[in-house]
Amino acid sequence: MPSSLDKVVVVTGAATGIGHAIAKRFAADGCRVAIVDLDEERARAAAASIAEETGGKTMAAAADVAEFESCRAAHDRIVPEFGPVSVLVNNAGIMSQRLGRIEALPPEHFDQLLAIHVRGAVNWARLVTSAMREAQFGRIINISSGNAKLAVPYRLAYVTAKKAILGITEALALETARDGITVNAILPGYIATQTLLDRADAGILDKDSFAERTPVGRLGRPDEIARVAAFLAHADSGFITGASLVVDGGITIRGDPNEDLSHPPSPKS
Ligand SMILES: NC(=O)c1ccc[n+]([C@@H]2O[C@H](COP(=O)([O-])OP(=O)(O)OC[C@H]3O[C@@H](n4cnc5c(N)ncnc54)[C@H](O)[C@@H]3O)[C@@H](O)[C@H]2O)c1
Repeated sequence: MPSSLDKVVVVTGAATGIGHAIAKRFAADGCRVAIVDLDEERARAAAASIAEETGGKTMAAAADVAEFESCRAAHDRIVPEFGPVSVLVNNAGIMSQRLGRIEALPPEHFDQLLAIHVRGAVNWARLVTSAMREAQFGRIINISSGNAKLAVPYRLAYVTAKKAILGITEALALETARDGITVNAILPGYIATQTLLDRADAGILDKDSFAERTPVGRLGRPDEIARVAAFLAHADSGFITGASLVVDGGITIRGDPNEDLSHPPSPKS
C-alpha cells in the first residue's frame, strides 16, 4: 500500500475553491500533486503558492476536462514528471450559469454542464484506471453535491449532473472493486468558496439563509471537504467504495427548515 509520499494525485479544477483546498491538503501530506484546471495561469499560480506554503511537490497541467484529448495531453505531461496517478479527484465544475424554467433552458447549457461534470469525470477515470489496476491500488473521488440528494428548482442541468456523478461512482466502484481501487463521491453542502460568495454578492443566492438553514448554523469551509478527500484516499479506507459521503452540516437531513433547532417547541398555553 502506498504511503502519502508515494502517491501521485490529480485534482481537477484545483486553481481555486474546494479543488485548491484538496490539492493543498494532499501536498501538505507529502503527495505529488498535479493541479489541473482550465485556466492555465491560475493553475500555475496555485501550484506555486501551494508548493511554497506546504513545501510539497506540485505541478500545473492545463486541461478542459470536458475534452478527452485535452485531458490526455495533461495526463501525458503528468505521468513522466510524477509517475502513474494513484489518486484522482474529479472536482472541476461550474455552478448553473442560468437559473430558470425548463422552457428557457438552452440545450447547449445543459450539454455544457453535463460535459464538464459528467464527461469530465469519466474522461479522467478512463485515463488513470489502467495504471491503478496494474498497481492494485487506486482512489477515485468524485465531487458531487448535496443537490444530488436534495434537489433544487430552476437548476435542472446542475442537479442532473450531480446525480449522474453518483451513477459513475457506483458503476465504476463495482467495475474496479477487485483491483484495489475505490471510487467514492463527496456531497458537499454550502461551502464558502469565492465562487459561492461572488454569487451571493450578485444576488443569485442568499448565503445568510444557507447558513441559517444548515443545522450547524454556518457555511462549510473548503478544507473541511479536503479532510474527507484525504480520508478516502488513505490506504486504510479500502473497504469504503461506491459510497456517497455527505459533508453538509446536516442540511440534507433537515425536514423543516423553519423548525427552531435551539429550543424545544413550547406548548401553547
Ligand atoms: N461551493 C459549494 O458550495 C459547492 C457545493 C457542492 C458542490 N460543489 C462542487 O464542488 C466543485 C468545486 O466548487 P467550487 O465552489 O470550489 O468552485 P470554483 O469555481 O471555486 O472552482 C471550480 C474550478 O473548476 C475549474 N473548471 C471549470 N470548468 C473546467 C473545465 N472545463 N476544465 C477544467 N477545469 C474547470 C475552474 O476554473 C475553477 O478553478 C464543483 O464541482 C462544484 O459543483 C461546490
